[in-house]
Amino acid sequence: MNDTSISEPAAPAAPDLAAATPMLAQYLEIRRAYPDCLLFYRMGDFYELFFEDAITAARALSLTLTRRGKHNGEDIPLCGVPVHAAETYLARLIRLGYRVAVCEQTEDPAAAKKRGAKAVVKREVVRLITPGTLTEDSLLDAKRHNYLAALAETGGSGGAMGFAWLDLSTGEFWLQPVDPQRLGSLLARVSPGEVLVSDRFTARPEFFETFQPWKAALTPLPPSRFDSENGRRRLEALYGVKALDAFGAFGRAELAAGGALVDYVELTQKGRVPSLSTPIRIADASVMEIDPATRRNLELAESLAGERTGSLLQCIDRTLTGAGARMLAARLAAPLTDPAAIDRRLDMVAWFVADARRRETVRTALKGVGDIERALSRLGLGRGGPRDLAGLRDALGRIPDLKRAIGDGGLSGIPAGLAEAVTELGEHGVLVERLTRALGADLPLMARDGGFIAAGYTAELDELRTLRDASRKLIAELQGRYAADTKIPSLKIRHNNVLGYFIEVTQTHADKITAGAGSRFIHRQTLAGAMRFTTVELGELETKITSAADKALALELVLFEDLVKEVSARAAAIAGAARAIAALDVAAALAELAVERRYCRPVVDQSLEFVITGGRHPVVESALAEAGGTAFIANDCALAASDKRIWLLTGPNMAGKSTFLRQNALIAVLAQLGSYVPADAARIGVVDRLFSRVGAADDLARGRSTFMVEMVETATILNRATERSLVILDEIGRGTATFDGLSIAWATVEHLHEANRCRALFATHYHELTALAARLAGLACWTMRVKEWQDEVVFLHEVAPGAADRSYGIHVARLAGLPAAVIARAEEVLRKLEAGEQANAATKLADDLPLFSAARPKSGGAPGATAPSAIETALREVNPDELTPKAALEALYRLRGLLARK
Ligand SMILES: Nc1ncnc2c1ncn2[C@@H]1O[C@H](COP(=O)(O)OP(=O)(O)O)[C@@H](O)[C@H]1O
Ligand SMILES: [Mg+2]
Repeated sequence: MNDTSISEPAAPAAPDLAAATPMLAQYLEIRRAYPDCLLFYRMGDFYELFFEDAITAARALSLTLTRRGKHNGEDIPLCGVPVHAAETYLARLIRLGYRVAVCEQTEDPAAAKKRGAKAVVKREVVRLITPGTLTEDSLLDAKRHNYLAALAETGGSGGAMGFAWLDLSTGEFWLQPVDPQRLGSLLARVSPGEVLVSDRFTARPEFFETFQPWKAALTPLPPSRFDSENGRRRLEALYGVKALDAFGAFGRAELAAGGALVDYVELTQKGRVPSLSTPIRIADASVMEIDPATRRNLELAESLAGERTGSLLQCIDRTLTGAGARMLAARLAAPLTDPAAIDRRLDMVAWFVADARRRETVRTALKGVGDIERALSRLGLGRGGPRDLAGLRDALGRIPDLKRAIGDGGLSGIPAGLAEAVTELGEHGVLVERLTRALGADLPLMARDGGFIAAGYTAELDELRTLRDASRKLIAELQGRYAADTKIPSLKIRHNNVLGYFIEVTQTHADKITAGAGSRFIHRQTLAGAMRFTTVELGELETKITSAADKALALELVLFEDLVKEVSARAAAIAGAARAIAALDVAAALAELAVERRYCRPVVDQSLEFVITGGRHPVVESALAEAGGTAFIANDCALAASDKRIWLLTGPNMAGKSTFLRQNALIAVLAQLGSYVPADAARIGVVDRLFSRVGAADDLARGRSTFMVEMVETATILNRATERSLVILDEIGRGTATFDGLSIAWATVEHLHEANRCRALFATHYHELTALAARLAGLACWTMRVKEWQDEVVFLHEVAPGAADRSYGIHVARLAGLPAAVIARAEEVLRKLEAGEQANAATKLADDLPLFSAARPKSGGAPGATAPSAIETALREVNPDELTPKAALEALYRLRGLLARK
């Protein structure tokens, strides 16, 4: 059914250029309109790619590159993908960062033929596929949102910034103002598949670092796309003027971002905008700030290796539906800071924890519920199919069960969040009943394949089908009659797409049919072993059949559109039900987790305390349980602004320092997302910002010196941590020489204590730092207990008060298999060093150094402006140009002497 020219099988000689020209002209014109996309050009059952596109796609998809026809005297490269398998190829191209324009045939090739032999079938780009605008299940991860985001700014550099993001596949839509300092955290939190930015932004050096990890996702657009007045008009047109005011007082930059998003959706969806929920405005401070490094470090949604396996999310996810999994991921990405809002979520979990039977009933009802958010959006965009309707029927059909399970005894005694969810589930009986009556058992993916409307749904369709089937029976009867008449038992009536119905006999019997001038059999075709005929009778019957089948299909399509219309009219209610189902799924799943893994309900309040009793690391604990070996050792942690707000944790390698630090950060995240936590008890004064750093983290992927990374990250913490923040520092300063590192670690602890005044856990192998405890009232020393036994060190994984007296590095070296001679020599050197001055250098440092200048930030005195030391004065007096070698040596001894006296 392909139309002419370049898609036809390769002719041995070059195809006629003149024949290719009209189509090529059409192709080139469409191609020009979408310069940054690969063009999927529909030809019959294939999407074909030509020229550069063909070369690119063939390489990316391992397709065979062929050549077809000529353009300007050169062969035209070509490759194609079959339409029925296109989604797989699209998925791969999108993942590789390409954008695709899908160009369809918008008229029947037969209609084009009527205009003339060389007429080209009309074609149009119906959709641009970009990473942020996917709606197909096969292109999406069921458990993750795929956000399209936009970043806008008003008033040029330094003006207000706004951020907007939506999930086209579910219709959710958010806006929020942006603090430029928090842009990196915001991007990491939302983790958009595609970000629209003005090309002015990408050129600004202060954002280079921030945008670096998002390079592949950035879609730069001209600044004119981000006009705030246009944005306001766009949104007002979409939601109605009054509605927009009712959503909240949006800043101009937010409107500009939101408008750019809607604009882009229209552009890529060719004018079809799915029903978007009304935008929700998020205040920056309502969400715990977690910067990208902390997220990576704590392995919240992905392990350090970039996989879901090993992440906190994977460890806690017991959801049963795609929408539930997405909601949990979104909550984990953005823990709350309002204790009341957190409690509301915890109440829901608690209700499911308290009653195993109800939890089970609800979870049974949720099992197998399809992704109705995404089905709804596809139907809204005109690319849904019968299976999407069936998904709605099944999911909405579960609602009565869900309601019964929760609200059996009335809604008065149950938590507010649950009561609200039950109300939001809504009433969909009429729609479910209609869909149940309408849809048959075996459903095709596409409506155009037909056969999905159930028998008995409409009399008209039933009649057409009976007519079609009855005629088919008549054909069978006709075959019997002709076989008898002609005495050819092997006579068959067959069907193909070219001839339609025809009578076929073998060559040997052919003369029995052709005999007699008045034969009713009309010759159609002669093949090697067979001859084909038709009759007037057969022709008439065929017309009846095809017209009945055509009419039946056309009617089915009308009925399908009716059903889609009914669904669209109820889109808001269905979206509400989808949200409620997701919320129930998350609450029941977190309860399941809590019971299964013995988590407790945390108390989250406005205090500045962080008191965990019997805390565990959720992921390490699960891993140990799975391995079936040793049990995880629980540990307490108690930080309070008024008392010991910083714990300095020392202990040998492998003793469990990092695990302890991280488990406390994870407990804070879990509590504030509204989950139970792996502990016996937990009281958490709400954390506004969470920071976690590991010394010398390898960051080869970003090509930066590890020590530089460490320092940049430490700087962020010292600049941004507030009294309400929780800071986890793991072996900061490890990435450089000992004294350098020690000094930096030293100064960092002082600054956190005096200036930031945040709650912090600081693990270090510089046991010299413990000397600081004497000076800093809020600093407490803790250590990982070890037992030495027959020259072996046994890790107890217990956190206990006190300080490690040494780092056990040599012990670890022995474990690692360093040669015995090296170990022995190292022990000897260590003894020497410890006996020497070095041992009490740190204690002296603590006594001598004036406390870090940040201790008195407002006292005015320039930091470091102390009187010159004796050494400095002596050094100034030396003039190296005038010294003899002997005098120089003497001067050196003198200086050394001054040092000793200090
Ligand atoms: N509380 C604990 N209970 C049981 N095993 C633990 C505990 N803490 C740590 N471990 C085990 O010890 C290993 C090393 O812990 P880690 O925190 O990396 O030590 P460090 O940071 O002190 O070098 C972990 O991989 C884990 O298997
Ligand atoms: Mg460690």
